[in-house]
Amino acid sequence: MYRLLKLFLFRLDPEKAHYLTMWVFMALLKVPGVKALFKALFQVNHSRMVRTVAGMKFSNPIGLAAGFDKNGLFLNAMATLGFSHIEVGTITPRAQPGNPKPRLFRLIKSRALINRMGFNNDGVEVLAKRLEGKRPDGLIVGANIGKNKDTPNEEAVNDYLKCFLRLYDLVDYFTVNVSSPNTPGLRSLQEKEPLTRLLTSLQAKNQNGKPVFLKIAPDLTREQLDEIIEIIIDTQLTGVIATNTTITREGLKESKEFVESCGAGGLSGAPVLQMSVSVVRYLKEKSNNRFVVIGVGGIEDYASAKQHLDAGADLIQVYSGFIYTGPGLVKGILKGLIKS
Ligand SMILES: Cc1cc2nc3c(=O)[nH]c(=O)nc-3n(C[C@H](O)[C@H](O)[C@H](O)COP(=O)(O)O)c2cc1C
Repeated sequence: MYRLLKLFLFRLDPEKAHYLTMWVFMALLKVPGVKALFKALFQVNHSRMVRTVAGMKFSNPIGLAAGFDKNGLFLNAMATLGFSHIEVGTITPRAQPGNPKPRLFRLIKSRALINRMGFNNDGVEVLAKRLEGKRPDGLIVGANIGKNKDTPNEEAVNDYLKCFLRLYDLVDYFTVNVSSPNTPGLRSLQEKEPLTRLLTSLQAKNQNGKPVFLKIAPDLTREQLDEIIEIIIDTQLTGVIATNTTITREGLKESKEFVESCGAGGLSGAPVLQMSVSVVRYLKEKSNNRFVVIGVGGIEDYASAKQHLDAGADLIQVYSGFIYTGPGLVKGILKGLIKS
């Protein structure tokens, strides 16, 4: 069924297809009986899949990664498809339009995407109002926070703090995003001194010990990962989300000309799997399992999910794999995990 739908959707501009699909899906869910039907079709509830991580109870290990629902519009709809958690954002203090379009590209043969969205979002105030509404039962909601494009790095801490404090009572956990390649200079906040300052400032305001994760790029060197491990332990962060998109263009099946025509941006999907898995494994082994690691990057079926989990991921998240595999993705992975 999704294969047929994909034939149509993949003819549309990827960003338009994303919103069109979601609006149609949400309209469908309002028809009496349809939500129950979707739940019956796509949800798997099994006691062996439940995970308690950092004091939060997840109905299964699979979440929707940041960027898919930046503005908290689709929580109900995506919960219907069986995700145990949804990470909204990246959100910034003020609304911003992001980069000029087109800014999202499909690399169909590689089952990958390139994006340079640039944190397009409605701003933290609008998101906060939405999160004050009713939430699907049992769904864990995280907020992925960032800085506005025009905020200089020296003042970045204030942007993160604004989002952190405004959303503090409205979400279950936070993710500090310093790894998007599409906000100029953002990734230099992954360096030791600015990162320590940023995380220390957030933890100083973390009155109730809310779980806080750091989301990192897959392009860091082993030395940089060693520093990250030290900082996570020193600042008593909950853990790491590994990984964001890569700026490399390795292992693609499309022609060099086509890839170049997409321009700058982060690559996600199948080609990122091995990079992300190796970061997950390194963090877990080198830290002696001292903190939580959430694995994300290239998960598109049970086998790829298993690679992240075998590398030590406590939970996993998906984005690009959902675009290519469709609404049955969570169920497919869970059925494999239950059998194994
Ligand atoms: C279109 C698009 C937008 C994204 N936006 C964000 C974002 O705003 N914040 C973030 O932390 N990650 C963002 N990501 C990265 C994903 O959350 C994820 O880390 C990455 O795509 C690797 O996972 P995947 O291979 O399953 O897509 C985005 C990814 C895509 C494809």
